[in-house]
Amino acid sequence: MAAKIVVVGSFNTDLVSYMQRMPRPGETVHGDTFMTGAGGKGSNQAVAAARLGADVTFIGRLGKDVFANLAYEIWDAEGINSDYVVQDEESATGVAPIFVDSAGENMIVVVLGANSRVQSSDIDAARERIAAADVLVVQLEINTDMVTYALQVAKEVGIRTILNPAPAAPIPRETIQLADYLTPNETELESLSGGPVSDVAAAARSLMTREEQTVVVTMGAQGAQVVSRDRTDPLPTFKVDVVDTTGAGDAFNGALAVALAEGKSLQDAVRFANATAALCVTKAGAAGSAPHRADVDALLAASE
Ligand code: RIB
Repeated sequence: MAAKIVVVGSFNTDLVSYMQRMPRPGETVHGDTFMTGAGGKGSNQAVAAARLGADVTFIGRLGKDVFANLAYEIWDAEGINSDYVVQDEESATGVAPIFVDSAGENMIVVVLGANSRVQSSDIDAARERIAAADVLVVQLEINTDMVTYALQVAKEVGIRTILNPAPAAPIPRETIQLADYLTPNETELESLSGGPVSDVAAAARSLMTREEQTVVVTMGAQGAQVVSRDRTDPLPTFKVDVVDTTGAGDAFNGALAVALAEGKSLQDAVRFANATAALCVTKAGAAGSAPHRADVDALLAASE
């Protein structure tokens, strides 16, 4: 049976400019190409999970505008259940102007719009769906109190939770406590642990509020470190030609949710997520660059 994943989070229309190098403040540079695409960390994670074969439900808010059409188009195309998505009367669909340089690195500005108007009633409406799921995933592009609420509901109905604390923002310890898996990148780890990090495992452990929590620190080209109370496993990733790193963390989180829901061991789940993120960076775009299951399985098989 397919893994059942619920993602509570953001959708943004990504307005992506590709350029040789980023402009400095006050400078104008020429871009090479421009692309409009489906983005938003939550929706990207939902798309990644769906392409890996999961049965995915997305909960979030859009505006009543032309950008909302892009969201429904991709969710329909990927077979994602959007029955619980609300079109907000008062706010526009989120947008994210993105710059990507020739090394594939990005700079992103997110204008959250309707994403920041998700209500507890939106989550309550999907309570049965959440109860029937294996894993719930949240990120920080909706209001923190709704992140907390979604995690609370997941814990009440007894399913596992992944909190991807992205983009970096302060979050209360009570919110972290509700996460079974916390998945910061290095910048987010610094922000959550309160300063520069010299020891990743120690910083990750400083965030744990209960025994069974796991922190999976994503480290770009270096893969990920899986940190539990008494164990640290560095898991290297796959060497690929980088085109665009946008959405790699999202692909990682979508894949981690699927692998855990399928009952893979934590180490195998992170290997699976590493492979998914590695394939994601070989293509331009965010949601659109998430790989399909067969390609991830092939990459993993080739590395055995
Ligand atoms: O993680 C990448 C995403 O961050 C982009 O799709 C953009 O919309 C922002 O949410």
